Amino acid sequence: MSSRTTLSRIIYRSLAKINMSAPDGNVQLLNIVRTSQKRNEFSVITSVLLFDKTYFVQILEGDKPAVHETFQRITVDDRHKDIEIIEWRDINRRDFVSSLALFARGPENEVQFMKFGFSEMLHRKRIKVAAIQGLAMALQSETLSKRGIELFS
Ligand SMILES: Cc1cc2nc3c(=O)[nH]c(=O)nc-3n(C[C@H](O)[C@H](O)[C@H](O)COP(=O)(O)O)c2cc1C
Repeated sequence: MSSRTTLSRIIYRSLAKINMSAPDGNVQLLNIVRTSQKRNEFSVITSVLLFDKTYFVQILEGDKPAVHETFQRITVDDRHKDIEIIEWRDINRRDFVSSLALFARGPENEVQFMKFGFSEMLHRKRIKVAAIQGLAMALQSETLSKRGIELFS
């Protein structure tokens, strides 16, 4: 068996400073996504970014040093604030497949965000890792399934 470096996962939440009601709100969000995808591809990081127009919740997975280095950069980004780590630990395998998949709460995924109580959980500051992970995986499955990809664990 080939040896593998240690994989790490960080989940954090932050308060978005980009204003989605501003005319360039979407552009600002897409700028974050584009840079992140490029850099994560380079660092072999897989990630999901959940956004309900108030809060960001991001799951970052990858080699321990790459995840730490990326998170350090993210923490000094002034497009969000009040960053709070929800989970930071070593993992055996990745759960996500994209360099960065953005899921912004909207009509097409409202049911899932509701089901996992995403915004309510963040407002009450009672954040459950299982709910975050469950929502992110459900959204990923839905997207992949539309492309004819069925992941099994
Ligand atoms: C909510 C949010 C999520 C981000 N996610 C990532 C990410 O997954 N990977 C990444 O490299 N940069 C991410 N960034 C962007 C970084 O903060 C930073 O701007 C970018 O990596 C470029 O860094 P540099 O200007 O030091 O080169 C994110 C920024 C925000 C606001």
